[in-house]
This record gives sequence, C-alpha cells and structure tokens, in this order.
Amino acid sequence: MACRFDVVTERSGMNSIKWDKVQDIYGCSIAIPMWVADMDFVPPEPVVEAVVQRAQLGFYGYESTPESYVEAFRNWLAVRHGWDVPEEWLAFSPGVVAGLSLAVETFTSPGDQIVIQPPVYHPFFAVIERNERVLVQNELVVEGGQYRIDFADLKRKFAQGAKTMIFCSPHNPVGRVWTETELQQLAELVKQYEVLVLADEIWADLTLPGHSHRPLASLNEDIASRCITFMAPSKTFNVAGFHLSNVIIRNDELRERYCKTMQRLSLGGMNAFGVRGAEAAYRHCAPWLDELRDYLKGNVEYTLAELEKRMPAIKVLPPEGTYLLWLDCRALPIPPDKLNRFLATEARVALNDGAMFGQMGVGFQRMNIACPRQTITKALLQMENAFEKL
Ligand SMILES: Cc1ncc(COP(=O)(O)O)c(C=O)c1O
Repeated sequence: MACRFDVVTERSGMNSIKWDKVQDIYGCSIAIPMWVADMDFVPPEPVVEAVVQRAQLGFYGYESTPESYVEAFRNWLAVRHGWDVPEEWLAFSPGVVAGLSLAVETFTSPGDQIVIQPPVYHPFFAVIERNERVLVQNELVVEGGQYRIDFADLKRKFAQGAKTMIFCSPHNPVGRVWTETELQQLAELVKQYEVLVLADEIWADLTLPGHSHRPLASLNEDIASRCITFMAPSKTFNVAGFHLSNVIIRNDELRERYCKTMQRLSLGGMNAFGVRGAEAAYRHCAPWLDELRDYLKGNVEYTLAELEKRMPAIKVLPPEGTYLLWLDCRALPIPPDKLNRFLATEARVALNDGAMFGQMGVGFQRMNIACPRQTITKALLQMENAFEKL
C-alpha cells in the first residue's frame, strides 16, 4: 500500500516561510527547502476536517479555551507521557518562543544570567539578549559518540549566579532525547542552586521509535515546582500556523505571575481554528503520529546510510528524536562560512547554517528530513554532484 508520507506536495505560493522565503534568504528560488522545522506532510485528516468545520460556521468572533480542548490535552499528557496534570496547572501562549520570552520578562530582571546549552535552537539567544539578560553558555560535549550535558560546567555556572535556565528537551538541533538519569542529575543541581527552568519540550512527541520523552517536571515534586514547561501540537502535527502552545506550571505563585503577564499583554484569547484543529489532533491522531515516527526513522536511517556511502566526509551522530540531522561538515574542503551559500546555490539545497546555533555550530549544517523520501534522494544527489565539482 502506498504510504501517505511518500506523497510529494508542492507548497510554493501558500505563504509558507519554509518554501516561499528561500529566495529572500538564500538568493535562489529553486533550492529544495530543508531548513525551517516544519514538515512537508499534510496534517492528519481529522485536523483538517475540524478546521474546515469551524470555518463553515461562518462566525469568527472572540473565543475562550474550550473545556473539551483542555480535556483532550490532559488526556494526551497522561497517555503519551505518563503525566497527570490537573486542569489548574495549565496556561497557554501563542507560541513557545513567545512564551519563553514572556517567562524571561516575568521571572527575571535585566542583567540576570540565563543558561542555555549550545549548539541550540537559535531564538533562545535572541530571547535572552533582546530582553537584556546575560547569556550563559553551558556547551554540550560529545562523549562516547553522543552529545551530553557537561554537568560540572553547569554546576559552575549555577554557582556563579545563574538562577534561570532554558532547557531544550528533546534537543534541537542535536536530536538527543535526554534519559531519566540525565534528567535526574539536572533536577538535583536545579534543586541545590534553586534555579528556575524554562523547559522547552516542543519536540516531546517526536521521539524516534525506541526512545521516549520524560517531561522534566514529572520527575518529582521539587523539580515540578521549579519548572515552566512548554509543549505544543505545532511540531507534532505540523500545525505551527495555529499559534497555540500549552504551558504547564505546577507552582501556584509562578502560574499567577505568568497569567498576569498574559493578561497585561491581552494574550488570553484562543485562535478559533487552531484550538479546534489541535483538539482533533490530541483526540484522534495518535495512530497518525506513530506512523509518522516510523517513517521519520526510515528517513533518518536512509539519509545516514547514503551520506556514509556517498559523502563520507559528512559525519552525523544518529538522532534519538526530532526530524533534524546535525551534519558535521568540518572535513569538507570548503570554508564553513561559505558552505551554506554553496549548498543553496550549487547543490540547490537550503539548509540551516550551524553557526546560527552558536559558536559550536560553526562547520555544521542542520538538515530537516521531514519530507517524502524521494525529496531526500534528490537533495543528496544534488549535494553529491555539487561536491564532485569542487
Ligand atoms: C526547540 C524549539 N522551540 C520552539 C520552537 C518554535 O516554537 P513556536 O513556533 O511555537 O514559537 C521550535 C521550532 O522549531 C523549536 O525547535
């Protein structure tokens, strides 16, 4: 039977940043877009149906959060992540990055130190610097063929006064799904130094088969009271345009302060389409997600095997989650600052330049493989041909 994820859909002209901004960003319009983290797969049918049904109602006035959405999301957390979250702990935000920025503004002051773990999702840098906080970098280290947290360095950073951390779990771009042991170790340091953790768990649902995500705040009462957790249907079901994220805050005082900021900025409303689509996703689309995870695993294995065979200078540590590959291109005979442009103009493949993710990312490229496998085949061929001409 044909696989739904093998269907190639032309997305140009839909006002998609990933597809329609290639010309502006890369200076050429025909590069295969493998950069922005959204998928070239149609969202599951129940999601599309729910949005169409809502559109057909024909009234698009102000909306609150439906009880049924809250119930669907709580049930999703319980079933998929083993986490029972009472309704009172829930808050929302229009996006995870917006929520992180709101939290930074609410819980820290200009000049405060905030820890991140590069190479890491580039807006974390902006959220800290644009709010005039001080960026503290606890760089990941490669040990035993895997990216790991440098706990000794993290302890030093906390001891030197950093009281807030933005934690990416699973980790974009390196694809780690942190183990329970690693999370426990983090939770102990957080307790010892009384740190507030902004846990960006937007990739929670997109672990590759064989790996499972554990929400940091679900470990124990202490860490729960020190965490603000961000989750969303956006990556999971390819609905980033819904602008709906879930925020879980166990600690009453922190939740009240977060909600006050939301009120002050008048951000309490719900997007009429997004909330219907997201509810349908959480309610009906677990089987679709599991099919997707299998397909992504196939894409990862295929891409890694082809790279090893045809472009062995590019090295990749196998990811455990996300649909992003972190390509180590440092052995290629092309200067790191020229590589991204070379790939776009000569190979016609648009990737994210690793330097965006911090100094540690120089010489790396991030490749989004959430697309039909034949798109990957085409991209790899174009890359191979471009490198042959060097
Ligand atoms: C770790 C991480 N956080 C947040 C986002 C974006 O979230 P939002 O679009 O809800 O702001 C992404 C998107 O790729 C991401 O990878």
